Amino acid sequence: MKVLRFADVCASGFAENKRVFIRADLNVPQDDAGDITEDTRIRASVPAIEMALKAGAAVMVTSHLGRPTEGEFKPEDSLAPVAKRMGELLGREVPLVSNWVDGVAVQPGQIVMLENCRVNKGEKKNNEELARKMAALCDIFVHDAFGTAHRAEGTTYGIAQFAPIACAGPLLAAEIDAISKALASPKRPLAAIVAGSKVSTKLTILKSLANNVDQLIVGGGIANTFMLAAGLKIGKSLAEADLVDEAKAVIEAMKARGAEVPIPTDVVCAKEFSPTATAIVKKATEVGDDDMILDIGPETAAKLAAQLKQAGTIVWNGPVGVFEFDQFANGTKEIAKAIAESSAFSIAGGGDTLAAIAKYGIDKQVGYISTGGGAFLEVLEGKTLPAFEILAKRAAQD
Ligand code: 3PG
Repeated sequence: MKVLRFADVCASGFAENKRVFIRADLNVPQDDAGDITEDTRIRASVPAIEMALKAGAAVMVTSHLGRPTEGEFKPEDSLAPVAKRMGELLGREVPLVSNWVDGVAVQPGQIVMLENCRVNKGEKKNNEELARKMAALCDIFVHDAFGTAHRAEGTTYGIAQFAPIACAGPLLAAEIDAISKALASPKRPLAAIVAGSKVSTKLTILKSLANNVDQLIVGGGIANTFMLAAGLKIGKSLAEADLVDEAKAVIEAMKARGAEVPIPTDVVCAKEFSPTATAIVKKATEVGDDDMILDIGPETAAKLAAQLKQAGTIVWNGPVGVFEFDQFANGTKEIAKAIAESSAFSIAGGGDTLAAIAKYGIDKQVGYISTGGGAFLEVLEGKTLPAFEILAKRAAQD
């Protein structure tokens, strides 16, 4: 998909003295006191801002934070802690501007942060009047919010329709490049790990990947449903019996292509779901009626790890067991280690996956870590995200 890139706009010298409006995704977790607990998205948004400042632009950056009620600003909706952290990262003050829709005073070489864009009336439903007003604030609109690329809102879609120039920021561009490398032109074998509690939330992803990947490794409650589909007993484990036929269809689709869904041959069970539950390793054929499967077993983990080490490309979404409890963490740990040791290009995304990457300290060994949660999942589903759709449309028109 061809989109205009902000890096090229800057390289041409066009951004000098221009008003640049950057839509970033600075939606970061905060504790009860409002302090930022994890700043990856802020750090990932710095390159676009530095690029714009270096190019001599007057820079405005905005983002949503949470899901506030439009027209009803509350102190906890404020981007103030984000502006402070951004200022620390940039080594300069980042003033925060409220009520900015009708005009922003900013000079070339300066940066301002525009208060939570989701507080503006009409943002969520992409109201045209709002979008036109925001587009009028700038000469160049830069979409750099991959985490919000699956939303067609005022600052993620409407402004891109009406701004004089609409282009992809370096983060959005990096995400497109990494995802295309992993899914559109992968080095084979291509292995995907799709894990999580429910097949229903990831069925579209599983079906979409079943047409493309060489190994579709399932984990968590999803694997339990696939075990049922393979005729195994799973006791009182979490599963969706009504989706067994869908799981069978995925297995068959993979088989028909000479690809496979590896079904666990051993599992780690417990009698209860608790941090102090006793872990018992069992063969997949020996799960009792009162057992709960909470992780893949060591034999399965070793087999999967060997496959991952042979892979050319790995896509990872979801831990394969209850890795928050150490006695059920081995499967996820082994998968993480195998990804770290593999020479494959790997891409990972999703909240739990990022937590697992952090827990096992393998962030440097993963080829690309996506900043997208829902957006990453929608890309895996094979959807074209609104951000890419509108930027491609603009690139084709202009
Ligand atoms: C996210 O955290 O996944 C993004 O910032 C999007 O947030 P949203 O789901 O509230 O649109």
